Amino acid sequence: MDTSHTQQVILITGSSRGIGLYLTHYYLNAGHIVIGCSRSELSIEHQNYQHFSLDVASEIDVKSLFSSIRKRHKRLDVLINNAGIAAMNHAMLTPLSTVEKIFSTNVFASFLFCREAVKLMRKNQYGRIVNFSTVAVPFALEGEAIYAASKSAVESLTQTLAKEFSEFGVTVNAIGPTPIQTDLIKNVPDDKLNKLLEKQSIKRFGEMADVSNVIDFYIKPESSFITGQILYLGGA
Ligand SMILES: NC(=O)c1ccc[n+]([C@@H]2O[C@H](COP(=O)([O-])OP(=O)(O)OC[C@H]3O[C@@H](n4cnc5c(N)ncnc54)[C@H](OP(=O)(O)O)[C@@H]3O)[C@@H](O)[C@H]2O)c1
Repeated sequence: MDTSHTQQVILITGSSRGIGLYLTHYYLNAGHIVIGCSRSELSIEHQNYQHFSLDVASEIDVKSLFSSIRKRHKRLDVLINNAGIAAMNHAMLTPLSTVEKIFSTNVFASFLFCREAVKLMRKNQYGRIVNFSTVAVPFALEGEAIYAASKSAVESLTQTLAKEFSEFGVTVNAIGPTPIQTDLIKNVPDDKLNKLLEKQSIKRFGEMADVSNVIDFYIKPESSFITGQILYLGGA
């Protein structure tokens, strides 16, 4: 295991907005090299930041992104599989095309990035992968059937890939945030959000720092014995 480099090479999906944008600034400020991606462009001017405009579910584009990382950095230490979408609708009002889009972005893309990342990480026998779930899974929230089902699949992937990747020194864990005020939940009515907060042990919105705190724990070299875990915020 090579942890001699304190400057980590970190890949963050969905870096243009919300939690991904916060994490990008957070890890750049901590002195790391960050590679980000999203469908839109991102105008962060920083010598340690490189952006790729792509759809995370496009296998060709994702492979080409990893090929660039391999050529330029020759390693990848951390993958933060943050890109995700949600649709909050009753099942009867959910078209199949929405189901396909959500699974494609949340599940297929997470798998794709895990698969490509481990190929690069295994060269150093070291890597940290963090996937994104949600408290909508344990709470089985009405109106979020497909979103929660997609994140259940992410949890299952996390647990199985943790086993498959352990021989390469790569850990795979997930964080399950509570509602955090980003674009993802901007159309959810207040009464629905308040009901959700009431289900939590600690009844408040999540903060960005709550997320980076968990990720810091998962990705530090000393967490080499922590894998296959799902950590929910707020006491879900
Ligand atoms: N905010 C919450 O309350 C909450 C709670 C629990 C879990 N989460 C999870 O936290 C993660 C981040 O959520 P967020 O609140 O930060 O969401 P957000 O503000 O909507 O941002 C989502 C990010 O993902 C990118 N993205 C979406 N689809 C993509 C695609 N097909 N290809 C490439 N990039 C794509 C978006 O960029 P482009 O649109 O430019 O592509 C954007 O950068 C998600 O996995 C979400 O499920 C959030």
